[in-house]
Amino acid sequence: MASSATARLSRRDILLGAAATATAAVLGLQGCAPGRGLPRVYAPPPLDVSGDRSLRVQAAAHGLLAGFALSVPSLKTSDAYRRVAAEQCSLAVPENAMKWAAIRPTRAEFNFDEADAFVAFCEGHRIKMRGHNLCWHDYLPPWLPAEATASNARALLVEHIRTVAGRYRGRMHSWDVVNEAIEVGDGRPDGLRTSLWLKLIGDDYIETAFRTAREADPSALLTYNEYGIENESYADAQKRAATLLLLRRLRQRNVPIDAVGIQSHIKARSMQGYGPALRGFIRSCRAMDLEVFITELDVDDRELPTDPARRDAGVADTYSAYLQAVLAEPNVRAVLAWGIDDGQTWLNSHSPRADHDSQRPLLFDADFRATPAFAATTRAFATHTPDQAAHPAVPPLR
Ligand code: G3I
Repeated sequence: MASSATARLSRRDILLGAAATATAAVLGLQGCAPGRGLPRVYAPPPLDVSGDRSLRVQAAAHGLLAGFALSVPSLKTSDAYRRVAAEQCSLAVPENAMKWAAIRPTRAEFNFDEADAFVAFCEGHRIKMRGHNLCWHDYLPPWLPAEATASNARALLVEHIRTVAGRYRGRMHSWDVVNEAIEVGDGRPDGLRTSLWLKLIGDDYIETAFRTAREADPSALLTYNEYGIENESYADAQKRAATLLLLRRLRQRNVPIDAVGIQSHIKARSMQGYGPALRGFIRSCRAMDLEVFITELDVDDRELPTDPARRDAGVADTYSAYLQAVLAEPNVRAVLAWGIDDGQTWLNSHSPRADHDSQRPLLFDADFRATPAFAATTRAFATHTPDQAAHPAVPPLR
């Protein structure tokens, strides 16, 4: 009788394992610890995530929207990817398809092929959509820094937002209007990043972006999206303070803004942990009548051991602790992971593990099998009581 562990391994895993063993024997790699280039014969415990157990149904039961950042190339090429996205998402965001570099190959040209493909998929599966992003310092097309000047930059930004947000007017749940405008290390008293936009337009580029977005799409929830504001460290506290200063200044000037995106690129075994300070930040947002979206959640597992089962458990524990902290706040309205499956996480290029194994930061592994992080996430949803005073479907113009 096969052991329960073997019984769980699929025929593919067993064949894979046999091939790996044969390869190891030939290459003299016998006894090499997994993660050192040998294909791993590991599968997370089976988990039924269909129907009522799906992310979208579990989230809706507690007044939340949930989903993933989607890769349009994967939507175009992978049946499994499309199936999981359609089954699990009530809300989705394009990982790259709506960024400047993806949409603006030249100053005169807009290419919406990938953005339109994302929109078609989501609307075809009744998935609400976040747009990401209308104004960022990164992933800009090469022509922009070459052609933008102090005299034309504001017009370029306004033209971009009117064209892009206007194209999907009335169809978007929300837009990341400005992304990552805070960089305390740049030394400004207000903590703003000395980006191309700030240097050429001035610090009111943020107000311009939000006002233009509201005109272009009055029904989208306009969001300021930021990272590095999650843990209890001094650095994150500084960035939270600068972010709140920005938000308060926008509110004081009646700039139209509806929500804050907390990107949530977090770490397993973070020295600082997640909790009181982050909850205080979310409550400060609520005091300004701002909803909060968890916009780019993933768990960097570099501090966890190579063994995949132990790693998955540590990642799941981090999801559980983080989400239970943030979902204790009633103005948190959505949770998005930054990708569906471990096979495509940006972390493998940005934050590679010392053992050269792939990271396991998401809710599905590279074979689209739900990981323990999935169960931890849906359990955390059950701790949430939504704010009844949530924004109406179409926020009033401010
Ligand atoms: O599309 C080109 C392809 O034609 C080319 O062959 C290839 C090699 O150069 O590059 C491809 O573009 C890459 C793009 O992802 C699409 O795969 C860019 O080089 C690469 O820089 C880009 O990385 C993305 C990064 O943002 C920069 O835009 C990551 O996938 C994406 O996960 C990451 O997401 C950001 C959020 O937007 C904002 N918050 C942080 C988060 C992680 O950095």
